Amino acid sequence: MMEKNNFWAFNPLFEPQSVAVVGASYNPEKIGHKIFKNIISGGFKGKVIPVNPKGGNLLGHKVFPSILQVNKPVDVAIISIPANFVFQATEECGQAKVKFLIVISSGFSEIGNKKEEEKLIAICKKYQMRLLGPNVFGMYSAKTRLNATFSKTKINSGNLAVISQSGALAIAMIAKTQAEGLGLSHLISLGNEADIETNEILEYLKYDTQTKSILIYLEGIKNGLKLFRLINKTSIKKPIIIIKAGKTTIGARAASSHTGALAVEDRVFNDLVVQAGALRVETIRQAFSCCRLLLSAPKTKGNNCLIITNGGGFGVLACDAAEKYGLKLYNQKDLLYKFFQKKIVKFGSFSNPIDLSGQANKDNYLQAIKISLQNNLGDSLLCLGCETAKLSAREFSFIVKKFKNYQKKPIVFCFLGEPLNQKLRVYDEIYNSVEALAFFHAYSQKIKRQENNFQPKVNLEQIKNLINNAQKNNRFHLSFQETEYFAANISLKTPKSFLVKTLKEALKAAKKIGYPIVLKAISNQIIHKTEFGAVITNIYNSQDLKLGFTKINLNCRQNAPQAKIEGILVCQTINKGINLIIGAKNHEIFGPVVMVGIGGIYVEVFKDISFRSYPLSYKEILRMIKETKAYPLLLGNRNLPKKDIKTLVSLIATIGEIVLNIPEIKEIEINPLMVFDEGEGVTALDIRVIIENKLDKN
Ligand code: COA
Repeated sequence: MMEKNNFWAFNPLFEPQSVAVVGASYNPEKIGHKIFKNIISGGFKGKVIPVNPKGGNLLGHKVFPSILQVNKPVDVAIISIPANFVFQATEECGQAKVKFLIVISSGFSEIGNKKEEEKLIAICKKYQMRLLGPNVFGMYSAKTRLNATFSKTKINSGNLAVISQSGALAIAMIAKTQAEGLGLSHLISLGNEADIETNEILEYLKYDTQTKSILIYLEGIKNGLKLFRLINKTSIKKPIIIIKAGKTTIGARAASSHTGALAVEDRVFNDLVVQAGALRVETIRQAFSCCRLLLSAPKTKGNNCLIITNGGGFGVLACDAAEKYGLKLYNQKDLLYKFFQKKIVKFGSFSNPIDLSGQANKDNYLQAIKISLQNNLGDSLLCLGCETAKLSAREFSFIVKKFKNYQKKPIVFCFLGEPLNQKLRVYDEIYNSVEALAFFHAYSQKIKRQENNFQPKVNLEQIKNLINNAQKNNRFHLSFQETEYFAANISLKTPKSFLVKTLKEALKAAKKIGYPIVLKAISNQIIHKTEFGAVITNIYNSQDLKLGFTKINLNCRQNAPQAKIEGILVCQTINKGINLIIGAKNHEIFGPVVMVGIGGIYVEVFKDISFRSYPLSYKEILRMIKETKAYPLLLGNRNLPKKDIKTLVSLIATIGEIVLNIPEIKEIEINPLMVFDEGEGVTALDIRVIIENKLDKN
């Protein structure tokens, strides 16, 4: 209900009865003039009030020298005057009881003027006035036909909502929607997000009845956890497509300086956003390719696509694209044979892709599509056409028109040849069409999924005690002994080991464990042990041990002279199993997350890590594992036995549960974690538990 309250709270912004333009210029080239003109020519249903100290009359409207002279309620005021005059204008808007302020003006945190932005926020807060921007290009809302932007292009009304952290890109998207034959329900430029954030707009759009699909352009994120939760809930009803810039280090730096918001770890973002049910795309073209389908197609029941083509090569490309984007191909060969073998034109093929061959004409296509629909072959249909002497663009358009409103399953058309009418929404690039369809399948499956949270049983009290104890001693990590206790508490096996100080103790310990053994220097200052020479393996006898013991101490002194060494761990050698890294973290932007990937010394090399957030089901953890390159190894490649995936899933859920319930824990990392054959469990070779340093947070 709380969220619905937010919907009503934003109503005056998106369905205002009156809008003022502060800085409505007489100069047609100025932004203030363009915004004012767009509001009028867009056919705004409410009252529009120009404000300019010059007074007079602008485009047939009485101009008020100050908003304080309007003397009528104003829901939204759009400010388009230089930044240094914005404060006074904002004060006056507050005094005039304006509900929402849209500040177009640049010159705030995006160029480092944080104090000025804070001052602006403070004035808005004083008058309980919400602020969109500053540094925005305005907004469009179809319901009241409010085009409060300085766009050149007319905006068509429709069902797609666009939220953009880049104003210029939002403007470009208007032209793109026109070209794609799409209409907008909303277009919102967020600028510096000094007050109103992406999450709040998304919350509003979730309930907005005109919006059927949402496209978001993001550069930085303020509250990732809330964003994912919202996407999770919203995407069940409305597909969400996200273009997030700042994938690369250079891009992230550019994004941070552009909007003033913090760019975030892209890999984590990517996995979590997809988990929440959104589609992450890289390009605007991809985004609109998907929008085309999402706005019109019925949901799919299953996950298999049937392809019909007149070009073998086109079909092969479609198969490659299907593999790339995870679109499954319908493979009931017997049914395809039964229904198509007599109907297929000479030289064709009746396996999927159904190749009607270059001889196929319009009627062959119509017949093939009808057969597939009547006999329910596939959960979606991808109909590809190459322009030939037997199949013209006009004929293909005829086929498209015939089936374009089919509502029992999605039919996607892609044509290579003369461009077709945009309104038909036919793709001209095979990879775009397959990607859109693949996402649509994944989306349809996701909204059907009802999965229970996986809540493993953990004795949280004992772990909390360990953490409290470390905190009392001003430590930001668990000691080796505490970590061993932690592992025992969650029934996680560790190799037989003894922490020793002297060679004599080491020899005694090795005898108890049995050779071969491993030596490890235990220190919280040495994280990547191998790089520091703080691990020595393959110690087969007491002679090796003597040499190893001297060497490891020397390595630590030379490579990490500042490190405090708790002792040397004499450790049983574990030389079987699949080597993974798993972890759980209270991420400062995304909240609690878990991760898995190829472990040991290869973590940095392969960077093969997948992340997930909460809520977390057993199947979701499994999906995360499946995304890594380790998964085929866990399944048992080359006739090797399958590994204990069940225990692995359960352990990930357990450490996640701990981090979720004990916010004082910053991170738990287990690396390497050896995963043995099915039924034999796992063993943690190294565990790190890092505790939040309260000073870090301030
Ligand atoms: N109240 C109302 N009107 C005022 C005013 C006030 N306090 N102070 C000045 N004005 C009037 C001016 O007289 C002028 O009208 P006129 O042209 O008829 O004389 C009009 O407001 C505009 O002021 P001006 O000083 O000419 O500013 P500008 O139009 O050159 O620039 C901005 C204003 C906001 C466009 C500019 O400062 C800016 O920030 N540009 C970047 C915008 C941007 O890119 N935003 C992000 C998009 S993604």
